[in-house]
Order: sequence, then structure tokens, then C-alpha cells
Amino acid sequence: MEIGKQLEYSLYVYPRKIINIGAYYLEERPCNKILTQDRSHSIIKRVLIIEECSLNISRSNMEVIGIFGILIISCFFLIWLWLKNRFNYWSSRNIANPPCSYIWGNMKSVLLQQCSFADITLKHYEVFKSAGKKYGGIFMLWSPVFYPIDLEIIKSIMQVDFQHFVDRGVYFNEKADPLSAHLFAIEGKKWKLLRNKLSPTFTSGKMKMMYETVVDCTVGLFRVMDKEIGNSVDIKDILGRFTTDIIGSCAFGLDINSLENPDSEFREKGKSVFHRGLLENLKQFLLFSMPNLMKNFNLKATPNDVTDFFMNVVKNNVAYREKNNIFRKDFMHLLIQLKNKGKLVDDDKLDSENLTEDENTITMEEIAAQAFIFFEAGFETSSTTMTFCLYELAKNKTIQDRLRGEIQKVLKKHDGKLTYDTLMNMHYLEQVINETLRKYPPVPMLVRVCTKDYKIPDSDVILEKGTKVTIPLYGIQRDPDYYPDPDKFDPERFSEENKNSRPAFSFIPFGEGPRVCIGTRFGMMQTKVGLVALMLNYEITVSKKTREPLQYDPQSFVTSTKGGIWLDLKKISPNTVELLPQSS
Ligand code: HEM
Repeated sequence: MEIGKQLEYSLYVYPRKIINIGAYYLEERPCNKILTQDRSHSIIKRVLIIEECSLNISRSNMEVIGIFGILIISCFFLIWLWLKNRFNYWSSRNIANPPCSYIWGNMKSVLLQQCSFADITLKHYEVFKSAGKKYGGIFMLWSPVFYPIDLEIIKSIMQVDFQHFVDRGVYFNEKADPLSAHLFAIEGKKWKLLRNKLSPTFTSGKMKMMYETVVDCTVGLFRVMDKEIGNSVDIKDILGRFTTDIIGSCAFGLDINSLENPDSEFREKGKSVFHRGLLENLKQFLLFSMPNLMKNFNLKATPNDVTDFFMNVVKNNVAYREKNNIFRKDFMHLLIQLKNKGKLVDDDKLDSENLTEDENTITMEEIAAQAFIFFEAGFETSSTTMTFCLYELAKNKTIQDRLRGEIQKVLKKHDGKLTYDTLMNMHYLEQVINETLRKYPPVPMLVRVCTKDYKIPDSDVILEKGTKVTIPLYGIQRDPDYYPDPDKFDPERFSEENKNSRPAFSFIPFGEGPRVCIGTRFGMMQTKVGLVALMLNYEITVSKKTREPLQYDPQSFVTSTKGGIWLDLKKISPNTVELLPQSS
């Protein structure tokens, strides 16, 4: 036997090693055979000792395995008990809860990307509404989420008793992931302070300042659209590039030109945040369900390459402007003022020697995080709104013609020049956009977390501190009680008279209360500029390439369709009608 021989030889030269080999050997083969090959008594003895020892080891192995097995079973039992208790959370409080799985909660289909956020929101809303409930409870993984349906309760949570629901409970980690510490995510006093500082950045005065930059980007839009006459265009893609260029210019002061160059790094990085694969989706759910636990693991919500890219862009940009004393009419200019002075000041007072520095200045990381959220929250939401709006206009020729008529009339009245104020006063345009935001809100649900125990009005339910709340925005805006025939696109719902006949909080595409979208004005401005530019120059119809009926894309948090929306274009007149901005 080969191994036996080796054993004898080694035995002679390195007795100690042999014992090791012998031990190994004994475990591999029946020991009798080995013993006959080992003639040295002492070695036999030693091998025997080893055999004994090996038997002991296997005996104790068995014990260890046994103990280990019992531990695992106990762990499973404890986890099962914990889950059972957890998933009784709502029923033990007498709050309706749709049946759910012990592992996934009520969001399994969304987690596995089989169903979109909009569809699941409507489904849960309808379950509670048809059961005549004012609220219910669901589970996101194993995290209980309060689900109000009644508009009065929603108003209390978002506005009246806001001090109990100041935060969203969204994951952020200032140290490990500086870009995540933006206005949307940060909490408590820090949020309030920053919100107060940033609010003056979004006044109508500041919008007028940026209006020209927005209009400038329509030139690139015409160029791309003109090339596509006679073809079907993926309108979401083009408008996503249009808004990327606008926000890139207004938030970062950069000429990104993704309209001409669709593969620009800026566009790629921006898109990657919204379109998640399965694993990324799961990670984001974990971060949302257990933000405090996840913070201990120093997890990052933003991918490293995105952080590196945006941090560099902002740092270089700020350094360049400061070195060369450059003032531009954009968000970055305002953020730099907040960094250096702690507040916004008129440009002519910037050099004033009397200007005192405010102690609440913001850091470079904070600038980067805010510019990042302006970019992320700003480009996808507005391009989505324009896309669905154009889809409905393409399907409803009468509405399209009426809208174009209004735009042409207003322009004629103002010698073809469009100021920010004239744009804001196009009533039918406003109605059409509002109906789009009702039917296809880009953000289908809003989130809050209870920051102080709260008694739900007219009930004996106490929401405990830490409980998450979801406001089913999409469900409310598709509710036939507020919007009869809710799938019909009807801008008349937003005529002055009809609008006022509906209850408060039945139309909340930008959220409500103190945490309402800070960029509402900017979002509306760029949406209106884009629609006016396109309506003036192109007649649109739905292309056969659009998959109808529309189906929402489960991979995107922002409402979006599978396969995109494709339109066929016809140029209205060979000469492009360009928008001529005019300062008010
Ligand atoms: C059509 C366009 C837009 C829509 C539909 C939209 C929608 C929303 C919604 C629903 C929220 C949550 C509100 C809540 O929880 O009550 C929000 C928050 C926010 N949005 Fe927008 N948004 C749009 C455009 C923009 C733009 C252009 C910007 C920035 C330039 C922006 C920046 C933000 C920020 C920073 C927040 C967090 C505010 C805070 O927590 O204080 N959004 N947006």
C-alpha cells in the first residue's frame, strides 16, 4: 500500500511528523491496517494514542454538532416567535391588515419587481377603502407601516400635527455616504434649518433668474426632435436628456449636452439611481425598513461611483468659481453663498465689507448632497410628467389642439416673447399638467415616520414613535369618489370651479405640509417650457411601438412605463418657432 510505505520511511527519519501523518491516515482508513504496517512499538503506541484521541474528537464532534443543531433550532424558533408577534402588530391593535407573508410582508411583489409601486399603492388603497376603513396597516418586510385612507387623517399627519411626523425615516449616513444626507432624507432640527436656508433658493424671483437658462435648453431639444421627424421617438428618453441638461446647468452650472450626447456620464449616473436591479431593490428596502440597524453596518445608499462622480464635479466647480470669481444665475451660485455666508444675499452686496458671516454655513459635502438631490429629484419627475402629458395629448387630439391654441394666442399677445409670468398664467396648460399629475403622479406614495407618539383623531389608536406611515397618493388620485371615471384624462377637472369642489388633500402630487416638494415651482417651470416648445412645433400621435394598454415598470420607483412611450411627430411649420425669453 503506497501510503503505508511512505509512513514507514518517514517514521524512521522524522518520528514526530509520522504521528501527524498517522493521525491523518487513521482518520482516512480503518486503523487495523495501519497498525500492522507500523512495527515500532513506541510508534504503534503513539498511533494508538492518536486513534484514541481521534475517536474522542469524533465523539466530541457529535456533541458539538448536537449542541449546534439545538442552537439553530432554538434560533429559528425565536425568530418565528418574533415574526409571529411582529406580524400580529396590526391585528393586536384592531387595525385591518391584508394577509401577508412572514418574510416579505405586504410588498413581496414590489420587492421581487413583479409589481410597480403605483399598482401596489392602488391595490392596498382599494382593499381598505372597499372595506369602509379610514386607515389600515401593512408590512414592508417586517416593518409595520400605518396606511391612512381618510383625507382628514392624512391632513392631520402631513400638516396639522406635523410636529409628530417631521421625518420621512429614509436612510442616510452622513459619514459613510455624504450624498445621502440631503434635504429629502435628513431629519429633525437639521432638516428644519437647512429647509429654511434653501427655501429662498426656490422663490419666484429666483425662478425668473433661472428661466432663461431653462429656455436656452429648448434649442437642443428642437435639434434632436427635428432629426426624428418621420420616425417614432422614445419621448421619455429625449425629455430625460432635456431635463438632465436643464438641471445640470441650473444645479451644477455645467453644459452637459446630453441631448446631443445621450451617453454622457452625467446622464448615465443620473439614470442609474432610478433604475434598480433586484439586489439593489432589496438593499433599498432593507435600508428603508431598518435604517437605524443598517447605519451600524455603515451601508451606503448611493453607489460609490455615483458618489465619486458627483463629489468631484461639485468640488471642482466650486473651486473654479471661487478662484475666478464667477457668478452664475443658478442653484450652485446660491449654494456657494450658503457655504460662505450662511445665507443668500443680493449679488451687489456680495463684496460688501459689512457682511457678517452666519455661523450656520453649510459644508462642501452638504452642497454636494443638495445639488445631487436637486438633480435627482428634478430631472426624472419633470420628464415623467411631460412624457405622460404628451401621451395623453397624442391620444386626445381635441385637447392637444385646444392647448396649442391657447399657447399661440398668448404668444401672439406678447409679440412672440414668453416671460416667466406669461408662462405661469397659461390656464389651460396648467389644467392639462395638473390632470397629468393626477393620473400619473411621478411619486406614487409619500412616506413619514412618527417622531412622537400620536393619537389618531377620533379613534383610540396610538401610533408609537418610530412607526412608519405611507400616504397612498396614487390611490387617492385614482379614487372615483373624488375623480369620477378616474382613468379618463379630463383637464376640466382642474377648472377653477371643479378644483374648488373637491376636498383638501385629494390632489397632492408634490406632497403637502412643511415637507412639501421644495422644487414645485422649478418642476412646473421646466415642464411648462418643454410642453410649450413642443406644442408650438410638433403635432403628435401615439406610435404603434408604444405597448398599450400602458403597464408600469416595476424596476422604477418613479412612475414609468414598460417599453417606454413612443410618439410619431409631424412638424407644424418648416421654420422652428423658438421661444424668446424676456425678463419680466
Ligand atoms: C414635476 C416635478 C416634481 C414632482 C412631481 C415632485 C414631487 C415631490 C414629492 C411628492 C415630494 C415629497 C413631498 C412630501 O413628502 O410631502 C418631493 C420632495 C422634494 N422634492 Fe420634488 N418633485 C418635483 C420636482 C422637483 C424639483 C425640480 C426639485 C429640485 C430642483 C425637487 C426637489 C425636492 C426636494 C429637495 C424634496 C424634499 C423636500 C423636503 O423634505 O424638505 N423636486 N418632490
